[in-house]
This record gives sequence, C-alpha cells and structure tokens, in this order.
Amino acid sequence: MQLSALQILHVRNLDTITLQCNPDANVLFGDNGSGKTSFLESIYLLGRGRSFRQRDLKSVVQSGTKELVVAGTVRSDQSRSPSSLGVKRSREGRFEARHNGETLRSASQLASQLPLQLVDAHSFILLEGGALQRRQFVDWGVFHVEHGFGSIWRRMQRALKQRNHLLRHDRMDNEQLVSWTREFVSASDAIASHRENYLSELELEIATISKYFDGLGALTIEYINGWDKKVTLADALESDFEKDRRLGKTHQGSHRADLLVKIDGTPAAERLSRGQLKRLIYILKLAQASLYKKRTTESCIFLLDDLPAELDRCHRKQVLDCLSQLSCQFFVTGTEKADFKDLLVNIAHQMFHVEHGEIFPA
Ligand SMILES: Nc1ncnc2c1ncn2[C@@H]1O[C@H](COP(=O)(O)OP(=O)(O)OP(=O)(O)O)[C@@H](O)[C@H]1O
Ligand SMILES: [Mg+2]
Repeated sequence: MQLSALQILHVRNLDTITLQCNPDANVLFGDNGSGKTSFLESIYLLGRGRSFRQRDLKSVVQSGTKELVVAGTVRSDQSRSPSSLGVKRSREGRFEARHNGETLRSASQLASQLPLQLVDAHSFILLEGGALQRRQFVDWGVFHVEHGFGSIWRRMQRALKQRNHLLRHDRMDNEQLVSWTREFVSASDAIASHRENYLSELELEIATISKYFDGLGALTIEYINGWDKKVTLADALESDFEKDRRLGKTHQGSHRADLLVKIDGTPAAERLSRGQLKRLIYILKLAQASLYKKRTTESCIFLLDDLPAELDRCHRKQVLDCLSQLSCQFFVTGTEKADFKDLLVNIAHQMFHVEHGEIFPA
C-alpha cells in the first residue's frame, strides 16, 4: 500500500498542504516546531481516525479554524488502482471518514484501508509500559491478518462489560451471569488461540528481520494468556468468583493478557540501552509488516518521527535498508538534512523541507 498524494487542511500549524509523495521514501527535515510531527500526525489521522499525541482531537484542529481535513490517494500494491480516503473533524467533535466517497462507520474500516506503523519518541512504551500496549501490538497484527478477529474482540469486550456490570449489581441475575460468562470464555479462548498462532508466525519473521540488525542477544517472546494456564478459563473464573464479586470486576481472561519480551532470559526493558530498545521496537514492527505482507500481499506504510533520535548512523541505515527490502513506503523526519546523508544512497526518495508550517520539495 502506498500514499501517492496527500492534502492537509488545518492540522496544527499546517494550514493548506498539497503533496505528491514518493512511493518509496519521503524525508521531512526542518527546525523544531516547523510541523514535521504534525505532518505524520495527519497521515495517522487518515489511517486511524485519531492522533498519536492527544486523545482529544480538538487540540489538533488549527487554532482559529472550524475543522481539519486530511485526504489521500492510496494505491494498493496489487491492483495499483487508486482509491481515495478522507477524514474530517470539526472543532465541536463531529468526525467523518470516507472511502471512495462512501461514509465509513468505524475507525477500524479506515485501518484496513491504510495499514500504518508508527515509531516515535513514545514507542518505548511498548516495552516499558503496561500490558495494554503489548496487547494492542499483537491485536494490530491479528486484526490485519485474520478477518473476523475484530468481531470476536468486540464480542469479548461486550461480554466482559456485561459480566462486570452484573458482578457490581446488588441483586445479581444468576442466569444472565452464567450466559455472559459463557460468552466471555468462548470469545477469550478464541482470542488467545488467534494471538498464539499469530505470535508463532511472528517469531519466524522476527528471526528473519533480526538478520538486518546487529545482534541484541537471544530474543524470546512468551504469551501470557491472562489466566492460570493450568486450568480452563471457565474454572479460573469459578475459583475467582468471590473476589470478582467483591471487587466488581473480572480478574482473569484475555483482557489481562501480556507478552514477556526477553533478551538472553532477562526482560528486554531491564537489559537493553535506549538505542538497543529502540532497535528492538523497530525489529518487532518490521516483523509485523513482513508478516502482514506475506498474509495479505500488501505492504505497510511506516511513519518514523525523528529517526536520528536514539539511533546512531549505522542503525539508522539498517532500519531504512530493511524498510526498503520489505518495499514499505516510509515517511521519516529529522531536524537536519545532513542526518540523512548517505543513508538513502540505494533508495529512491524525495526530500522535503518543512518551514513554519509549509512543506517544500528540497
Ligand atoms: N492547534 C494548533 N493550532 C496551530 N498551531 C499549533 C496547534 N497545535 C500545535 N501547534 C504548533 O504547531 C507547530 C508544529 O509542531 P510539531 O510538533 O509538528 O513540530 P516539529 O517540527 O515536529 O518539531 P520538533 O522538531 O520540535 O519535534 C508548533 O509550533 C506548535 O506550537
Ligand atoms: Mg516533532
């Protein structure tokens, strides 16, 4: 998948931008505050319907304007036929998304039209933050390669919500509790098996991708399914019932799953330096893109905010070479043009200079 053209209106300091994108590599450089991250944020809005910086999109709409608009022409790797994608968000909160002129009902429909991978200054959270980040990482992968995963995931969330609601109720309806518990167990089991299958495929991709990078040590990923593995989830919920009832929530299930990412037997976040952690994050995301391509024959688009931060020249080059090998279009930012010198010698690319909210080919 590639973005061939992009229009941005009123996203932060980007007032009116029209850009033809390079199908391979796009490098945006410029001073602090010039609008580089806002540019990547615009693409992210187009593919996810939300920002990676703020939960509330109000602060993303340019001051003094009523709404933001991002529109793009997307080309599939296979058909090469272009399709149009657009999002609009008013200051008051009205959100619209369209694909080829048709209104989309959810952000997940946007995500299937524009598979994005982002690596920015906050990406460390994948290894250093809570389990939610790692579940989201796996679920992104499963969602994009297994049709139907989204609906199982929503079934689990709905059953969990209903079960928790019943647990909190003074006069609990037992019949309903049994029925929602059964639904929760069935969806949780299905999610666990999808995630485990996905991770075993991902491990093979990780081994391949790791060859592009200097060794970090022996990497292992263990899936923790969110309940005592020695028993079924139904039994785990039964033995936890008093605790769940007392605290009014379900303590075991696929909503508590996690990944244990280790290097030479030690949790990666405790072992690696900042630059090594960043490299591991690239390896994980590139492996996802590689698996996505195998399963869908389409490539992901990468957004790399401030690539030079944390990575030395040699590792910057390894990242870009690997992206190029995977035929992933990418948009990369940095403050200095010179930071990209010699990194793109064998990669077709376009440089852009970002200056006070305007973007010029450079
Ligand atoms: N809602 C808004 N309306 C107008 N301008 C905004 C809005 N929100 C943020 N800005 C401004 O947009 C500018 C662009 O910010 P952005 O984070 O994109 O810069 P950057 O080029 O990534 O900088 P850095 O190199 O420091 O990361 C900043 O000057 C910021 O103050
Ligand atoms: Mg920035």
